[in-house]
Amino acid sequence: MTDISQLQTDLEGRIAAAADLGALEAIRVEALGKTGTVSELLKTLGRMTPDERKVEGPRINGLRDAVAAAVAARKGALETAELDAKLASERVDLSLPPPPQRRGRVHPTMQVLDEMIAVFADMGFALAEGPDIEDDFHNFTALNFPPKHPAREMHDTFWLPEDEKGERKVLRTHTSPVQIRTMQRLNEKLPAWIANGQEPPIRVIVPGRTYRSDSDATHTPMFHQMEGLVIDRAIHMGHLKWTLDQFIARFFETPAVESRFRPHHFPFTEPSAEMDVRCDRSGGDVKIGQGDDWMEVVGCGMVHPNVLRNCGLDPDVWQGFAFGFGIDRLGMLKYGMPDLRDMFASDVRWLEHYGFSAFQAPNTSTGLS
Ligand code: PHE
Repeated sequence: MTDISQLQTDLEGRIAAAADLGALEAIRVEALGKTGTVSELLKTLGRMTPDERKVEGPRINGLRDAVAAAVAARKGALETAELDAKLASERVDLSLPPPPQRRGRVHPTMQVLDEMIAVFADMGFALAEGPDIEDDFHNFTALNFPPKHPAREMHDTFWLPEDEKGERKVLRTHTSPVQIRTMQRLNEKLPAWIANGQEPPIRVIVPGRTYRSDSDATHTPMFHQMEGLVIDRAIHMGHLKWTLDQFIARFFETPAVESRFRPHHFPFTEPSAEMDVRCDRSGGDVKIGQGDDWMEVVGCGMVHPNVLRNCGLDPDVWQGFAFGFGIDRLGMLKYGMPDLRDMFASDVRWLEHYGFSAFQAPNTSTGLS
């Protein structure tokens, strides 16, 4: 006859020694499975006399309960150990320095663009946009460039091949075509606006890419301009000068920047001027606001009556001024970059040096903190 207590001791010993859940399961099946040793013993109860059963029943059932309890206990212990081992192997050491990671920088043109927008937005200007690929009408004709006039050559235009209508589109040579697009929109909406008693002035800035076939230290085939356009009744040159002076003082963060207006010619403005700011080129770098030199920063003027007429606006009712900044050029001046071509050479070392951090301390006045 099987020695029950011996069997229990054996099984308990082997269960306690089971190295993993697989080994434990094998022992459980061997003892408690359908044909396991303990199960076979339980089956013998049915063949016993009532007296024998009275004695053997509690012993065999006790054996089964003890073995099942031992399996459960060992299973719990093995599972905990397995989890502990997993946690230990997947442990993250938070004290380790992070792996080196390259952080992107904001390109100076984009930084300067944001700064310019911030200043003009404060003065009540809205943003407008237009396409990079323009037609001759918006880029030249509507801006009072006469057909076949040599002024059309002055921009070293990139012409696209003829389309099916025999027209040649251009890569816009300036952001001024968006003046036309904006005034045309005003003209379309004007009757409705007037009917509503809310006839607004136009005050827009137009940042964008522009293209000319040109390349040297201050010219690249693609560059960025920011156009400005104000249209209202009784606008005059004093408004233009004030606006540009305000802008220059705020953009260069000093009221001491001295500017001058030189008469110039643009087909789409009359009178036209170029504004220069005082600078010093003697030390190699350009220093703004001091010195004996001048640097041209913006072309400007009063919107030519022909341009207003080309957009369906009556020049006896509407006047306006316009200006066109070179965004990259302003960046060179403010942040001391000597060569415009470097801006678009995509050299990461240059960007690391001249770029700006994308992460700036939250401005407390905006309620972010
Ligand atoms: N479009 C002119 C240029 O590219 C600049 C300009 C804009 C001049 C608006 C006058 C008014 O040189």
